[in-house]
Amino acid sequence: MKKELKIPRIKNGTVIDHITAGNAIKVLHILGIPKTSTFVVSVAMNVKSRMGKKDIVKVENREIDPKEVDKIALIAPKATINIIRDYEVAEKYLVKLPDEIIGIVSCSNPTCVSNSREPVKSRFKVICKDPLRIICYYCEREPEDISERII
Ligand code: CTP
Ligand code: ZN
Repeated sequence: MKKELKIPRIKNGTVIDHITAGNAIKVLHILGIPKTSTFVVSVAMNVKSRMGKKDIVKVENREIDPKEVDKIALIAPKATINIIRDYEVAEKYLVKLPDEIIGIVSCSNPTCVSNSREPVKSRFKVICKDPLRIICYYCEREPEDISERII
């Protein structure tokens, strides 16, 4: 069966595929779109895939950086990152949830040491990967909505 292509192939850039359906908007937010980024972006949401539905984000002429990949892992744990060069998939890798999340989510406890004037980076322990649950290393507070707290 011929695969239906929702968005045209890109020449150069990054394709973030297998995003949890509905979370493409959050991925755009992580990539700074539209606020700080002016790269050409295409989005497909609720596309049929082998395992239900997924979202896809294609960013032209920009290769995603590791810090952004770490953030995407928090909201789309099954996402694949495809680096496209001259129409070919030059690199493909899965995002990975680390055991500790450092410096990318802020603690929801206003009196937490990671929110004080001290130069203490936020730090969370992953207590469950699916569904994702994290607790602050310092005060043990669990954020209600992780995606809302991505720095
Ligand atoms: N893609 C693209 N432009 C290209 C090449 C690939 O937009 N020039 C997109 C494809 O549409 C797909 C993703 O990048 O969404 C990965 O491409 P490919 O590895 O060829 O597809 P699959 O084998 O289906 O990937 P996977 O096994 O990861 O699902
Ligand atoms: Zn805390």
